[in-house]
Amino acid sequence: MKQGMRLFLFTAFALALVLVAGCGEQDQNGSKADDSSSSDDQEVVNLYTSRHYDTDRELYDLFEEQTGIKVNVIEGKSDELIERMKIEGEDTEADVFITADAGNLHVAKESGLLQPVQSEVIFNNIPEKLRDPDHQWFGLTKRARVIVYAKDRVDPSGLSTYEALAEPEWEGRVTVRSSENIYNKSLLASFVEIMGPEAAEEWAAGIVNNMSRDPQGNDRDQAKAIVAGTGDVAIMNTYYVGRMINSEDPHEVEVAESIGVFFPNQETTGTHVNISGAGVTAHAKNVENAIKFIEFLTGEEAQGEFAAANYEYPANPNVEPSELVKSWGEFKEQDINLSVLGEHQQEAMKIFDRVGWK
Ligand SMILES: [Fe+2]
Repeated sequence: MKQGMRLFLFTAFALALVLVAGCGEQDQNGSKADDSSSSDDQEVVNLYTSRHYDTDRELYDLFEEQTGIKVNVIEGKSDELIERMKIEGEDTEADVFITADAGNLHVAKESGLLQPVQSEVIFNNIPEKLRDPDHQWFGLTKRARVIVYAKDRVDPSGLSTYEALAEPEWEGRVTVRSSENIYNKSLLASFVEIMGPEAAEEWAAGIVNNMSRDPQGNDRDQAKAIVAGTGDVAIMNTYYVGRMINSEDPHEVEVAESIGVFFPNQETTGTHVNISGAGVTAHAKNVENAIKFIEFLTGEEAQGEFAAANYEYPANPNVEPSELVKSWGEFKEQDINLSVLGEHQQEAMKIFDRVGWK
């Protein structure tokens, strides 16, 4: 029953949003949309999120239990939600935006969709490097972009750095997805910051040279390719290994068991990490509730489960990752503020174009 009720409320809320967007009137429609999904004086926070995990819903319920603030959720793809907020403008119902990748959070910020937040609770929960210097977004979870290798062919003692994969030794052996993907844009942006644009371009050119095939598919497909013998190593995000190990598809489980996770640049500049994160929207109607919600999500109680839902690392350093995530080992991270991933995004795209990384 509870599930059905929730679905009904969700549908009613989504419908109300469509109506608001459709008729373009702003006066009382916002509060009417809220009223349709809750009792008269129910406090709410309206969330636009690119996440879609059942455990998230449980955390939202827990938040409501603790605060009396109901969480209304609209799920969608990151770029679609960003477009939607742009179109909705001041009329948007969104109070909080959650998405993956600091590059996407940067786009939301630069599009004027977020607002600065002063919260000592959030500042204490989340390390400085995982949040926007202007306080417009905050990391919720961390993921590492690592090298995975085919265990039957590659001795991990021969692996060292991202840079080494651009050397002639790896010709025809490196599998990685398209440069259109934000994860690769952010990876290259981190290199622009750390090694400078020229060395970053040299690296990208070297990788293009060493590709086992033209980029295609998502991160998971890179792992599948090397297990199938197309390439020996792949660059991918750690959580996909976790997702495949727990997949209902036996082939994905087999792929996950056939690859090893290697954290590059441990003796040098550290492994590339990125985040999923949250911000309060520029036109939020429930700002205080929105801040409370992000304080809750970054807090010790929520962080473990929130990160475990996608086999990620908690952004709050006081919280341990799940056992599976811990089993990949501890590692040294790149020492940069993640806002640079957005700042160098355009530069990274130009480099990818110049070196022909499709
Ligand atoms: Fe992903």
